[in-house]
Amino acid sequence: MTPAYRCPLCEQTLVFENKSWHCLNKHCFDVAKEGYVNLLPVQNKKSLEPGDSPAMMQSRRLFLQRGFYQRFAQRQFELIQQQLIRDARAINAVLDIGCGDGYYLMQLAEKLAPNQLDLHGIDIAKSAARLSAKQHKQAHFSVASAKNLPYFDNSFDLLLSIFSPLNIAEAERVLKPGGLLLIAGAGPEHLKQLAARVYKQAKNHEGAKLELGLSLELACEEQLKYSVELDGPALLELLTMTPYYWSADDSCKQALREMTATEIQLDFKFQLLKKP
Ligand SMILES: C[S@@+](CC[C@H](N)C(=O)[O-])C[C@H]1O[C@@H](n2cnc3c(N)ncnc32)[C@H](O)[C@@H]1O
Ligand SMILES: [Zn+2]
Repeated sequence: MTPAYRCPLCEQTLVFENKSWHCLNKHCFDVAKEGYVNLLPVQNKKSLEPGDSPAMMQSRRLFLQRGFYQRFAQRQFELIQQQLIRDARAINAVLDIGCGDGYYLMQLAEKLAPNQLDLHGIDIAKSAARLSAKQHKQAHFSVASAKNLPYFDNSFDLLLSIFSPLNIAEAERVLKPGGLLLIAGAGPEHLKQLAARVYKQAKNHEGAKLELGLSLELACEEQLKYSVELDGPALLELLTMTPYYWSADDSCKQALREMTATEIQLDFKFQLLKKP
């Protein structure tokens, strides 16, 4: 059975009826025409449009479709698959926290067991849930915060947190015993040539801070580095999907758009954690 939604207001089970999700206490959440449900209570929104903007989301979608992050997605699959073999464990329910346009969730599902998994994604940005739901009809997407996941304890076999904010206690709560959490983010040299174009004194960023939860155990940790050649349009999409975009002035964006093939370093860090 697919993991049930938990009401973000009173923590009762949500039941689907007449195109919306309801709880016993008459809290009601409508399903948008694209198929996602908004489970983020207005009082929990810190801004009108939290999370990544629609323009960032579109750029991420276009850039990811170019395939330059395929090796990154493949390595995510391999790390999870190896651990499942070590643990002699199969998985059913997967949740991508901060799913963006759902690219990594779908890449993983295709490699692990197409049509056999219960796929869920949440993102605080409405544009992410909309884009994901439009593209991937086989999965369940909602607008929700990583700080208040709309699911019951022990619901998922696998969680993904790819370049997204994570509340480790919440992640641990919804994970089944023996379940896995894959955290992936930037290593120190990630996109260093792009950073150098945007900042006069570019320094390697510290890399994603990958912290451990209280009871989660580190199953494995790894880094993946490779470089890719990007042309102007791809560079601009890449810029727009990262926070560098806010620091780039118009002349920098114009220069990037006109560039021919340029080598860009990719540097990814992975942590695979297990709930005992
Ligand atoms: C850098 S993007 C990564 C998206 C996707 N995981 C990927 O790698 O393509 C970060 C995502 O986290 C979402 N986000 C930001 N704060 C969040 C929060 N508190 N809860 C859930 N999602 C959040 C953003 O809207 C955005 O889609
Ligand atoms: Zn309720």
